[in-house]
Amino acid sequence: MNLIAINGSPRTGWNTARLLEKVVEGAQAAGAEAKLIHLRDLRFTGCISCFACKRIGGPSYGRCAVRDDLKAVLDLCHKADSLVLGTPFYFSAESAFMRAFMERLWFQYYLYSKLKKPLSPAKKSTALVYTMNVPEAVMEEYGKTAVVKRAQQIMRFLFGSCEVLLSCDTLQFDDYSLYDTDLFDVPAKQKRHKEVFPEELKAAFNLGMRLVAG
Ligand SMILES: Cc1cc2nc3c(=O)[nH]c(=O)nc-3n(C[C@H](O)[C@H](O)[C@H](O)COP(=O)(O)O)c2cc1C
Repeated sequence: MNLIAINGSPRTGWNTARLLEKVVEGAQAAGAEAKLIHLRDLRFTGCISCFACKRIGGPSYGRCAVRDDLKAVLDLCHKADSLVLGTPFYFSAESAFMRAFMERLWFQYYLYSKLKKPLSPAKKSTALVYTMNVPEAVMEEYGKTAVVKRAQQIMRFLFGSCEVLLSCDTLQFDDYSLYDTDLFDVPAKQKRHKEVFPEELKAAFNLGMRLVAG
C-alpha cells in the first residue's frame, strides 16, 4: 500500500502541512509507504484545456498531457492506493496551488459521457484536509461547506470514496502583534491551538492509518 499527500499551502511547516505530516506518519505506522509533496516546490499550471486527455485514440487519452513538474506527481497519484489533498481556505476557496492541482488531477479522468465511467483508476481511498481561520460554526455562512461538499463529491465520483478532515479557527501567526490585524481573539486562538489542534493532529494520524487499511 502507498499513500501520497499533497500540500496546497505555500507554508510547509504550518497547519495544513503539519496535519498532512501526521497523515503520512499514520500511513507509515500502518506499514504503508507514504510521501508528502509540497506544491509550492513545483512549477506548474492549471488545466490548459488542450483536451489531449479526451482525444479518442490519442497518446494521452485519460492522462494529463501537460509536461511540467506536475506530470511526475500526477503519475504518482495515479498509481497510489491512497490520496490525500490538503489546502487552506483562501477567500472561501482552495488555494490557487490546490485549485490548479485539482483541475489537472480531475479533468484527465473526467469524461463528457452519460454512459461511460470516468477514466480514473478503479478505486482509491482518499481524503480532503481543509484548514481555515473561521470557526466551524460559520463555515456554512461563508460558503465553505458547499466548497468542501463539491470537492468531496468529485473525489467520490472519481475514486469511490473520500473522507474529510477540517481544522477550523487555526493559528495563523506565531506573534499576532507583529501584523496589522485586529479581527481575532488571539488568546482564544492560542488556547485552541494548544488544546484542539493536537487532537486534530491525532485525527490526521488515525486518518492515515485508516486510509491505507483499505
Ligand atoms: C490569501 C489568504 C486568504 C485567506 N482566506 C481565508 C478565508 O477565506 N477563510 C478563512 O477561514 N481563512 C482564510 N485564510 C486563512 C487560512 O485559511 C488559514 O490561516 C489556514 O489555516 C492557513 O493554512 P496554513 O497554516 O497551512 O498555511 C486566508 C489566508 C490567506 C493567506
